[in-house]
Amino acid sequence: MMNQILKTNSFENILVNKAQGSWFWDIDNKKYLDLTSGMWCCNLGHNHPDVIHAIKKQLDKIIHKNTRFLTPTTLEAAESILNFFSNDYDKITLLNSGSEAMEFAIGFARKATKQLDILSLKDSYLGAYGLSKESSYTSQKASKLKIPYPICNSIKCNCLEEYDSLINHIIESYAPKLACFVLEPVMVSGGIIKPCSNFIKKLCKMLQEAGVLIIVDEITTGFGRAGKKFGYECHDIKPDIIVLGKSLGNGYPVSAIITYADVESKIPLNKMYYAQSHQLDPLGAAAALSVIKIFKNDRIIEKNQNQIKNFNNFFETLSHPCIQDIRSYGMTFGIQFQPYSNHSTKDLILNLKNNLLKEGIMVGISLGKDLIRLLPPLNISENEIEFFKQKTSQLLNSLD
Ligand SMILES: Cc1ncc(COP(=O)(O)O)c(C=O)c1O
Repeated sequence: MMNQILKTNSFENILVNKAQGSWFWDIDNKKYLDLTSGMWCCNLGHNHPDVIHAIKKQLDKIIHKNTRFLTPTTLEAAESILNFFSNDYDKITLLNSGSEAMEFAIGFARKATKQLDILSLKDSYLGAYGLSKESSYTSQKASKLKIPYPICNSIKCNCLEEYDSLINHIIESYAPKLACFVLEPVMVSGGIIKPCSNFIKKLCKMLQEAGVLIIVDEITTGFGRAGKKFGYECHDIKPDIIVLGKSLGNGYPVSAIITYADVESKIPLNKMYYAQSHQLDPLGAAAALSVIKIFKNDRIIEKNQNQIKNFNNFFETLSHPCIQDIRSYGMTFGIQFQPYSNHSTKDLILNLKNNLLKEGIMVGISLGKDLIRLLPPLNISENEIEFFKQKTSQLLNSLD
């Protein structure tokens, strides 16, 4: 089975056949509770009926068109996404993947500032290829522009005493050649780490004063994942460019960059041209439009605070010598393991992941970060959370 597929991933020996809400089913009709929301994309759960309805309705009209045309759905989606932000962003384009939108955003910032360098935090994940990969922790390429940062959750912290000199160094030495600072507000792939907000706020302010554009990568932290509408809200900053992906289409591949007309006006029209066959396609626009409507009408983020509490209460009581740390931010949870008895960290993580899968629960793992990682749908039910709690406690208690 699967021999014809390039080994770009370590595929599970399961063929997924259908999905609904927090669950997916394999070809033998065994069901699995999906605590990863697909690839962190279905914050509203799989196959949300309103998103499916919107896509089907659009399918009957038009899927695709020449890039020289726009559609009414595209314009309605653009307006609706921009209105979803509290700041007065007034420009948007729709693309397909998160990586594509990051590449576009960085290129856009380079054109607007006429500078080339890109600053990022050393544990960010910003994309699968190109400049965004080079600025991510997954790139082999070392760079002084992937900077260290303080980690803390307190408003009254002393982080700046230690990190003020780094900020000054960045402003004096790097800022003149920087096009942008690309910030992942909470580093999810990098280990569920929130950088100190006082540090981020001061760094962003001084960079913006020096003419550097702030790009926030909301591909994962957006749409409630970090406990607020968007992750950047927890740092109290005003980004110049915002990148959306993943849950913008709730599983359908659509991404976006959002900015101000003022930033766009810095780029001559002949340098703005970007041609990609599926840019601004109506199907992605229809999906995004329905996602925004659901978030607004169903008050998803306000209601999700209950699920966040429920998970956190469980994790506060969960203790076992193989657990080193449990980190959470909004609806993102990471259980960090350490060697126990004669089990290595890697074996513990793989065993737990495999045994949970046998029990019908899908969790994410990061062997590089020693983590089991959960990004459940925001509307997961109490019973579904209970199922996860029971099975996890049982499996941990049965470890010898
Ligand atoms: C923060 C962040 N940025 C960018 C990306 C890349 O998005 P995509 O996989 O849709 O290309 C990801 C994907 O996991 C991500 O988590």
